[in-house]
Amino acid sequence: MALHLLVAESCGAQAADLSRQLSLPSIIYSSPLKPALKALPPEGAALVCDETGLALYALSLPGSGPVRVELGEGALGWRLDEAKVRHEMIVKACGVRPGVMTTVFDATAGLLRDAAVLAVAGCQVRLAERSPVIGLLVEDGLRRAVGRPELQSLVARLRFCPGDARQQLEALAFADDRPDVVVLDPMFPHREKSALVKKEMQVFQSVVGEDADADALLLPALRAARKRVVVKRPRQAPPLDGRKPDFVVEGKSGRFDVYLPANQQMDSP
Ligand SMILES: C[S@@+](CC[C@H](N)C(=O)[O-])C[C@H]1O[C@@H](n2cnc3c(N)ncnc32)[C@H](O)[C@@H]1O
Repeated sequence: MALHLLVAESCGAQAADLSRQLSLPSIIYSSPLKPALKALPPEGAALVCDETGLALYALSLPGSGPVRVELGEGALGWRLDEAKVRHEMIVKACGVRPGVMTTVFDATAGLLRDAAVLAVAGCQVRLAERSPVIGLLVEDGLRRAVGRPELQSLVARLRFCPGDARQQLEALAFADDRPDVVVLDPMFPHREKSALVKKEMQVFQSVVGEDADADALLLPALRAARKRVVVKRPRQAPPLDGRKPDFVVEGKSGRFDVYLPANQQMDSP
C-alpha cells in the first residue's frame, strides 16, 4: 500500500522525526490541504500532520474525512458517559463490575474506540498496536487528550505499548502483572461491496491490511489472561482459530466471543 507523508509548512519541525519513524520522505505543503492531497496519485493513503495533529486520508476516496484518534469527540464522544458505558456490550463481555478495578490488555488498539469505553468504565487498559502509522495516530490522540482537563482521568487509565501484541502476550503469561482480561479485535475481511463498508473503515483497512495472522493471537491471549479473553467478531464470522467460546455476548452489529482460560484446553504449542 502506497503511503505518503504530508506535513504542513507550519509543522515543518516535525517532518524529520515523522520521516524517520515511518522511513518515508515527507512532502511539505502550504495550506490549503485539499490541493496537496489532489496532487498525489489516487491510490493508497496519506498521513497528514498539521496544527490539529495527525490524520489519515484515503487517496482513492476523494472527500473521505480524516481518520484520527479522537478521544471524547464525534462518534466516540457520546459513548464516553460513565453512566452509559456500563451498558456497552464490550463492558459486559469483559465482566467489568462497578467498584472493582479490572486490568485489560487491548491487543488490537486501533483507534482506541473500545479501549476508551473500557477506560471510562473504570478499567486500566494497556494498549498494543503493531502498525507504525496507527501507532503514531494513537500517540497523537493521547497527546492531544492530555491537554483537555475533562479527559485526564480517561487518559490516565490508558498505557500505550507499541509493537506486536503476540510477543507482549507471550511475555505477560509469565509476568506478575498478568491482565484480568485480554481483548482481541482483529480486522476481518469484509464481504460487503466496498461501497457499503464505511469510508473510515476503508481508509483504516488500506493501511493495516487484513490481519491474516489473527488466529495466532488467541492461544497467547488465553495464557496471559487471568479471567477472560474477549474476541470481537462480525455476526457471521467463525470463531477465532476455530475455537469454541465459553459464551457469547450478542451486540447490535456483531458479537463478543468470551473465553474463560480456566475452562480452555491449552496444550497445543
Ligand atoms: C479492527 S482494528 C481494532 C479497532 C479497535 N478495537 C478500536 O476500537 O478502534 C484492528 C487493529 O489491530 C491491529 N493489530 C492486529 N494484529 C495485531 C497484533 N498482532 N499486534 C498489535 N496490533 C495488531 C491492527 O494493526 C489494527 O490497527
